[in-house]
Amino acid sequence: MNEPDSGELDTIVAQRSSALDGEVHIGGAKNSVLKLMAACLLAEGRHVLANVPDISDVTLMCELLEAMGVTVTRADHRLVIDVPEEMDTAAPYHLVERMRASIVVLGPLLARFGKARVALPGGDDFGPRPIDMHLRALESLGAVFSTAHGDISATAEVLTGTDVVLEYPSVGATENVLMAAVRAKGRTLIHNPAREPEIGDLVNFLNQMGAQVGWAGDRLAVDGVERLAPARSTDGYRVIPDRIEAATFLAAVGMCGGSVFLRDAVADHMAMLIRKLTEMDVHIVSDAAGVRATATGRLSSADVSTLPYPGLATDYKPFLVSMLTTASGVGIVTENIFTGRFRYIDELRRMGADIRTEGHHAVVRGTERLSGAPVRAHDIRAGAALVVAGLAAEGETEVAGATHIDRGYEDLVSKLVGIGATITRR
Ligand code: UD1
Repeated sequence: MNEPDSGELDTIVAQRSSALDGEVHIGGAKNSVLKLMAACLLAEGRHVLANVPDISDVTLMCELLEAMGVTVTRADHRLVIDVPEEMDTAAPYHLVERMRASIVVLGPLLARFGKARVALPGGDDFGPRPIDMHLRALESLGAVFSTAHGDISATAEVLTGTDVVLEYPSVGATENVLMAAVRAKGRTLIHNPAREPEIGDLVNFLNQMGAQVGWAGDRLAVDGVERLAPARSTDGYRVIPDRIEAATFLAAVGMCGGSVFLRDAVADHMAMLIRKLTEMDVHIVSDAAGVRATATGRLSSADVSTLPYPGLATDYKPFLVSMLTTASGVGIVTENIFTGRFRYIDELRRMGADIRTEGHHAVVRGTERLSGAPVRAHDIRAGAALVVAGLAAEGETEVAGATHIDRGYEDLVSKLVGIGATITRR
């Protein structure tokens, strides 16, 4: 299993690789499984999740649940989560601090126990990430918050369904309010919710637990129920495939050339990405089994602008930027979701990329070839994007900080080796 910050084997060494070829399996979605694990807190009993990626963020979420009194057993990409009747409703700082997504335990704890205490998450490498929308949305259902000693304490004698208006379709705020509303009294209408595929997965999972959630146009309608129970399925609830992991391999094919089949990748979940890649001359075909990407020769540049789903995900952006560094022409990249998410661009510049940034824009002028250099991964996706760039760079690229990449990737190196890349970890 991948362990964070082990201090060992923290460097991935990529060499220039020729055309990639073969098949790679796309695992379960990090950004979905973490929320499904939190949703289990809504009902006492045994929950089973399948297609769970072996990544260190899942390990951290297991630790968080265990700290609250839950028993988690993990084997063969399955999690068996035994949620007791009585639980500790506090999420401690040393865990929340290591994974911001832990804030999603707030909604389920409030819904089930009427109280929760969660350490305030800190910032991360792409700037401060406030949770004001989470709190405002939960307040409209009747929760009361106070902060002291770095913790947010929440209480709710009763949660009552109402109209919840999100001023922005925040993924985390949508998840938190959704998980609170499923056990509130009456109907909650969430206006302007996030609509990412991972939200759809959470809705399905909650409905299998007995919740009543549906789409009313582009709003989420939640009819609160008194009790939820673990989803009944002998094989466990299957987490959807990770579209960002898929994007990583699509970018690798784009940069190195070749033809690779991404088994289990869902084209529908990444329609906008596929359009963009097609514009850049990556040829993509898909069927129910997965997605095939083929690329020959130099890619064309394109402009990229990140938006909430169904727009181009901000998490795809580092891969698109890597691809633009060697494409022909100039691509203008606009980040609309997170300000300051351009830090890895300094690393790409060390590899000879021609990129100018101004505010939330980056202008990427394609060069024929990058040159390998020592670089550092500061977060999961940016780290993986440097690895992908390294596969197309002359010589050797050493990506330090590989444990950041382990947070969201199971065996990235072996999977790349499996499709012919020259890459190792040391
Ligand atoms: C999730 C994903 C992350 C992805 C992001 C956007 C997980 C674990 N992470 O993060 O990989 O990049 O969606 O697709 O699923 N905001 C506020 N106040 C709030 C909440 C958010 O101002 O209360 C702002 C954020 O600072 C950011 C924007 O809204 O600028 C989007 O954030 P949000 O959609 O909430 O992202 P996360 O759920 O944190």
